[in-house]
Amino acid sequence: MSSQRSSFTGKIGFVLAAAGSAVGLGNIWRFPYLAAKYGGGIFLLTYLVLAITFGFTLMIAEIAIGRKTKLSAIGAFKALDKRFTFVGVLGAIIPIIILPYYAVIGGWVMKYFAGFASGATEQMADGNYFSNFIGSVGEPIFWFALFIAITAIVVFFGVEKGVEKVSKIMMPVLIAMILFIAIYVICTMDGALDGVIYYLKPDFSNFSVMTVVAAMGQLFYSMSLAMGIMITYGSYMKKDISIEKSTRQIEWFDTGVAFLAGLMIIPAVFAFSGGDAAALGQGPGLMFVTLPQVFNTMPAGSVIGAVFFIMVFFAALSSSISLMETIVSILMDKTKLNRRASCLIVLGGALLLGLPSSLGYSAWSSVKIIGMQFLDFFDFASNSVLMPIVALITCIFVGYILKPKAVIEEVEVNGKFKSKGLFTVMIRYVAPVFLLVILTSSILSAFGIIKI
Ligand code: PHE
Repeated sequence: MSSQRSSFTGKIGFVLAAAGSAVGLGNIWRFPYLAAKYGGGIFLLTYLVLAITFGFTLMIAEIAIGRKTKLSAIGAFKALDKRFTFVGVLGAIIPIIILPYYAVIGGWVMKYFAGFASGATEQMADGNYFSNFIGSVGEPIFWFALFIAITAIVVFFGVEKGVEKVSKIMMPVLIAMILFIAIYVICTMDGALDGVIYYLKPDFSNFSVMTVVAAMGQLFYSMSLAMGIMITYGSYMKKDISIEKSTRQIEWFDTGVAFLAGLMIIPAVFAFSGGDAAALGQGPGLMFVTLPQVFNTMPAGSVIGAVFFIMVFFAALSSSISLMETIVSILMDKTKLNRRASCLIVLGGALLLGLPSSLGYSAWSSVKIIGMQFLDFFDFASNSVLMPIVALITCIFVGYILKPKAVIEEVEVNGKFKSKGLFTVMIRYVAPVFLLVILTSSILSAFGIIKI
C-alpha cells in the first residue's frame, strides 16, 4: 500500500476526508441516545471536557505517528518499535467488529428513507412501528445487506472520492436541516423547552461513572480514534499542513454536529413523552421513534423525512466506507490478495457477522451475551473495551517509549505547537491513569461485579 500512497492535495482535502469518516451515525444516532440516557447536560459537559483534552491528545498523536512513518497503523507501530506491532493489530480488529453492526443501522436508515419517500409517514410515526420493523426477520436483513453491498461496491471500484464529493455537498445541508428541525421542535411543541433544559443544564445528581464510560467510548467512536484510522489518514497528510489546527477543526466539526443532533432529538422526546423519564432510556431506537413523530406533525413531513434520511444515509455511507477501506487495505497488504478478492471476503465476513446483530431484535432476541443483545454487545466490546485498551497502550507508547518529543517535533514541522504542555501532561499522566480506571470499571460492571 505504501507504494501507491497518495497525498491529500491540501488542508481542506485532509480535514474533509477525516471529517467524512468522523461524522456519521455516531453523531446523529448514537450521541443523542447516549446523552438522553446518561444524564443530559452532565453527559454533554463530560463529553466536551473529554473532547478538548483526551480527544485532542489522541488525535494529534495518531495523525503525527501516521505522518511521521508514512505507514498505516500496523506498519507504523512496527516501524517505530517492533514490540508494539500488536497495538496496530488490536486496532485493526475494531473496524471488523464495528462495520457489520454499523451496516445494520445503516440499513434501518435506508428503510426509513424508503418509507418516507413512499409517503408512509403516518404509519412510521406510530410508536410501535420501529419495534415491529426490527422485530421482523427478513426486512431488516434485506436493508442491512443492501447497505453493506453498496459500501462494498464503492470500495471495490475505488470511487470513495465520488462519495466524498457528494457528502461534501450533503453535509452542510444536513447540518442546516438538523438546525431547522431543532428550532421547529423547540418553537412549536409543548414541553420541548424542558428537554432543552435537560440537555443543556448539567445536573450533577445524574452523574455516575457510567456517564464517563459512555462519554469516553462515544468520543473514540465518533472521532474514529483508537483503531488506526487516523494514523492511516495522517500518513497521507502533507508536511506543510498544520496537524494542530486540522485536529481542532475536525474536533469542532464532529462535536458540533453531535451537539445539534442532541438538540434536535432530546427536546422532541420530552415533547412526545410528556416529560416521562423512561422515554429517555430507549437506547438505539431513539432516533427512529422520535423523528418520524416530529415529521408527521410538519407540513410536507414526508418530503422532509425523506430528505433527512437520505442525507443521514450519505453521512453513514462515508463512514462505513472508511471502515471497510481500512479492513480491505490491511487484507491486501497482509495477504497479497487483489482488491476484488479482498472486497468479497470483507463483504462476506461483514454479512455473516452482521446477521446476529440484526436477528438480535427478532428471532434471536432471547440470546444474550453478558446480559446484552448482539448489537449492544459488539458496540460494548469495541467502544468500552477494545478502544480504551488501544488508547491506553498508545498513550503509554507515545508517553514513555517513543516520547512526546517525537510527536511534538512532527507537529512543529510547520510552526509552533501551542498546546504542547497540555499534550505532554495528558499523554504521560492523565490519560493513562484515567483510561485504566474507566476500562476496569466498565469491564467489572459488565460482568456484574460492581455497580456503577
Ligand atoms: N466516526 C463514525 C461515526 O461517528 C463511525 C466510525 C467509527 C467510522 C470508526 C470509522 C471508524 O459515525
